[in-house]
Amino acid sequence: MTDPNRKGFVIGNWKMYKTVAASIDYTRALLDACSQPVIDVGLAVPFTAILAVAEALEGTPILVGAQNMHDSKEGAFTGEISAGMILEAGARFVLLGHSERRNLFGEDSAFVNRKAKMALEAGLLPVVCIGETAIQRETHETAEVLTRQLLESLDGITPEQMRRVAIAYEPVWAIGTGVSATPEQAQVEHAFCRQVVYSKWGREAGQKLRILYGGSVKVQNAASLMAKPDIDGLLIGGASLDPKGFCEIIQACK
Ligand code: PGA
Repeated sequence: MTDPNRKGFVIGNWKMYKTVAASIDYTRALLDACSQPVIDVGLAVPFTAILAVAEALEGTPILVGAQNMHDSKEGAFTGEISAGMILEAGARFVLLGHSERRNLFGEDSAFVNRKAKMALEAGLLPVVCIGETAIQRETHETAEVLTRQLLESLDGITPEQMRRVAIAYEPVWAIGTGVSATPEQAQVEHAFCRQVVYSKWGREAGQKLRILYGGSVKVQNAASLMAKPDIDGLLIGGASLDPKGFCEIIQACK
C-alpha cells in the first residue's frame, strides 16, 4: 500500500502522439469514464495540446502537464519553450529528463537540474525521470547510476522545495519494450532512491516524496506495482493513449 504520507499519482505520457482535435476527444472520453479519480491523475501532452486539454479539464481534478521545457526564462533558443509559456497554457507539472530526452536529445543531469530549478521557480511541479540501461543493470551499476542521476538532477534543491518535486524511476530497458520491471525489482529501486533522498534531504522530504514507476505499465501489472510500499504512482506511455484503457489503470490503482 502507498504510504498515507503520499497520495497516488498516475501520469499518462502521450509522447509525440495526438493532434489538438484528438486530444480533445481523448479528454472528453477520459472524463466520461473517470470523472472522480481518487488518486492524482495527470496528462503529459504535446505542447500544442496543453491549452485545449487544460480547457477541457477545467473544474476537474485531472492535471495537464508538459513533457519538457527549457531552463531559461526566455531568449534566442529556436524551437524551445519556457516554463512561463507552458504554465500560461495551463500546465501544472512538467516531465524532465525522460530517458528519450537524455538518450535521443543528449540531455544530461546538469541540464535537467537547471530545468528543475526553473520549473520550481515558475510554480510547476517537476517530475524528474531517472533510470538505468540494460547494460548498466547487467554490470551491477544500477545503484551508482540512480544515485548520480538523483543527486545531479536535484542538486541545490532545498528540502522545502523537495515537497514540490516528484521522481519517476523508469528503467530504460522497460520503456516501450513490453518488459516491465517486476513489482519486486521496482520496489528495490524505489526504496533505494528514497534512501538516497533521506540521506541528502532528510527524513521528512523522503517520506513525502512521490516516486512513480514507469516502463511498460499495463492494466495487468498496475495494481501489483502500486501495492508496493515505495511505489507511489505510475508514468505510463503506450497504455495511456487509449482513454478507456488509461481509466482502467487509474481505477486499478485505488
Ligand atoms: P511505456 O513508456 O509505458 O510505453 O513503456 C513509459 C514512458 O516512457 O514514460
